[in-house]
Amino acid sequence: MEEKAQQLAQASQYKTEFMANMSHELRTPLNSLLLLSRLLAENPDANLTPRQIEFANTIHGAGSDLLRLIDDILDLSKIEAGRAEVDAGPVVLAELLGDLEQALGPQAEEKGLTLAVEISADVPSTITSDMQRLQQVLRNLLANAVKFTDTGGVTLQVGRAGGLLAFAVRDTGIGIPAGKLEMIFEAFQQADGTTSRKYGGTGLGLSISKELARMLGGRIKVTSTVGEGSVFTLLVPEELPTTATAGSRASTSVSLSGSRSGSMAGSLSGPTPLRGPARRVTPAATALAGATVLIVDDDVRNVFALTSALELHGLTVLYADNGAAGIRLLTEHPEVDVVLMDTMMPDLDGNETTRLIRELPGGRELPVVFLTAKAMPGDREASLAAGATEYVTKPVDLDELLALMANWVTPPRRPRRVAR
Ligand SMILES: Nc1ncnc2c1ncn2[C@@H]1O[C@H](COP(=O)(O)OP(=O)(O)OP(=O)(O)O)[C@@H](O)[C@H]1O
Ligand SMILES: [Mg+2]
Repeated sequence: MEEKAQQLAQASQYKTEFMANMSHELRTPLNSLLLLSRLLAENPDANLTPRQIEFANTIHGAGSDLLRLIDDILDLSKIEAGRAEVDAGPVVLAELLGDLEQALGPQAEEKGLTLAVEISADVPSTITSDMQRLQQVLRNLLANAVKFTDTGGVTLQVGRAGGLLAFAVRDTGIGIPAGKLEMIFEAFQQADGTTSRKYGGTGLGLSISKELARMLGGRIKVTSTVGEGSVFTLLVPEELPTTATAGSRASTSVSLSGSRSGSMAGSLSGPTPLRGPARRVTPAATALAGATVLIVDDDVRNVFALTSALELHGLTVLYADNGAAGIRLLTEHPEVDVVLMDTMMPDLDGNETTRLIRELPGGRELPVVFLTAKAMPGDREASLAAGATEYVTKPVDLDELLALMANWVTPPRRPRRVAR
């Protein structure tokens, strides 16, 4: 029996490792695809036809969808392997609900739907739970409600039910046949296989939500009437015991494709803000104009994409395809303001390289921003321990990366480091 259990645990461990590796392999090419298609869509040389710009936007949109799918699958496999962690802390409900309203409002408005949030008077203003996970589940439920409703509206009611806090997401949408109410919580299952064409999505949202609700010490209930609407209710305790939580959050949320912050079906990973139209160049780019960045990355496609994007925004880019060359370039170029460091490289990996950078004269203060495609629990901590300043998940959102870099590269820039 014990042996069997051990074998099972190991098999699930292998599966999670495999998913993490696969997600890395998929994210890396996606990174250049997303960056370059976004760059094309911006049409910086004003030489593309509107139709060609539309193509570039389509490529970007499809890439973003693919990325979301990868994130979801990774998320689900982590949860199933028991490797996703909850991080209990104070959750201010007004803040949580405000964020959700802001995220889903535009989608509802676009479809001509009302979106209302109602809080009953007996609900406490603060609870103890995992803000990110809670938001993730509610975002999924609200995104579904908006997606599967064509007229009327969506209401999120927060109240107390049997000692638990109840978040009821009510819609006036297409509804779900009674026979399908259980099946929709299974991975890749949709009430009507053919509706995916009309409504989009892959059928992972509810499976992830169900597992997350369980991790939060609660569950999801559903009632529905075909043609009238559905009510999905998330029930969670007001106090998630802090002792039940282990470790820290999986990875930073400074992440992902340029289009991920506004409209469309809820993003499911904890790894992610919602998505929306690609944003234009931010003031961060202005703050960075003239700065010098060193990219240390062994993937040439990545370097090419990042370099093109950064140069377009007025940065000077130096590039090394391995850790040792990176260190050498740094000693030759004291003007480097910030380093973008790949995590997985042959020979000297990002962590090792950063440890060495920290020993260079002036190297202690140099901002080293990690870019990683593989975000497993513990990776982030390992990089921070090695001296990483920030840790960003690939594919990189250019605006967020620029903003983050601008944070560390403060104008007016003084020479910080002295050449050896
Ligand atoms: N509010 C709702 N009204 C009607 N049907 C719903 C609603 N929420 C979920 N469903 C049904 O349950 C199915 C599964 O939902 P789920 O969120 O898991 O997947 P999805 O929304 O199709 O895709 P994804 O969330 O992965 O983008 C949906 O495809 C839909 O058939
Ligand atoms: Mg969904």
